[in-house]
Amino acid sequence: MLQKSINEFVEGQRNWLDPVGDIIGNAIIQAKSAGGDRATRVLDFLHGVWLEHPLHPALTDVPVGAWTAACALDALDSIAPDEKLKRGADGAICIGIAAGLGAAAAGLADWHYLGGRNRRLGMLHGLLNLSAVIFYTVSLAMRRSQHRSSGSLLSILGYSLASFSAYLGGELVYGSGIGVDRTAWQRPPKEFVAVLPEAELEDNKPRRVDANGTPVMLLRRQGRIHALGHTCTHLGGPLSDGQIIDNAVVCPWHGSHFDLDSGRVVHGPATFPEKLYEVRVTNGQIEVKVGR
Ligand code: FES
Repeated sequence: MLQKSINEFVEGQRNWLDPVGDIIGNAIIQAKSAGGDRATRVLDFLHGVWLEHPLHPALTDVPVGAWTAACALDALDSIAPDEKLKRGADGAICIGIAAGLGAAAAGLADWHYLGGRNRRLGMLHGLLNLSAVIFYTVSLAMRRSQHRSSGSLLSILGYSLASFSAYLGGELVYGSGIGVDRTAWQRPPKEFVAVLPEAELEDNKPRRVDANGTPVMLLRRQGRIHALGHTCTHLGGPLSDGQIIDNAVVCPWHGSHFDLDSGRVVHGPATFPEKLYEVRVTNGQIEVKVGR
């Protein structure tokens, strides 16, 4: 019921969410192409390539936790006023604002690859979070200029916005699978299975094969056969349609690079590595089994 209402609300806002989203998304794309390698490194950091996990959800726990602590300290201070409680609440709000800005940067980096309903929902999520950060910043200024009661009320409003926004973020993850490893439900074979006659695999041309129901990408290069998961862990792009650059296969949808020898992510937006398969040739048949 709540989800249906949210979907209807988000769809009702598409007239302004879409154009604003396009402006922001295009600005990120332009900054990325103008920034070259440095922009790629920054985006890789923000996606969480170094963490092998999306960075955004790890950061969002900090403002939610800090602002929850500030609420509790404010409540205690209203029952038994104490300078230490006031300082604690203000400090927690500061931590929440700083972490909220970091989470916003990581969220923007992830968001600009989305389309349709998920893009709109992500826009709304980001705008609500930004509003919460603004409310808390004003609240902090009021608390420090002898308007503590009004500042506390404003932080309750900020907390309400952040909580609703967190729900929308959860909907993107749990309802739409954004940020989830798209291969998580695959069951790759643990024993060797035949997937293709060796003679049918052309050099330097990625090919999709089926290994007991799991799609696998094969590539013969410089006499060696590589086998990686075929489904991009980011949003499910088909890796056999991608280019080979240096020692990596590049996803055709959003450009994630996966190392051919290890499956690790060289460049995002993907953060989860691809499954690496062991390969052998038996009686002219290529056989694979998952290597890890
Ligand atoms: S689906 Fe997004 S990089 Fe592959």
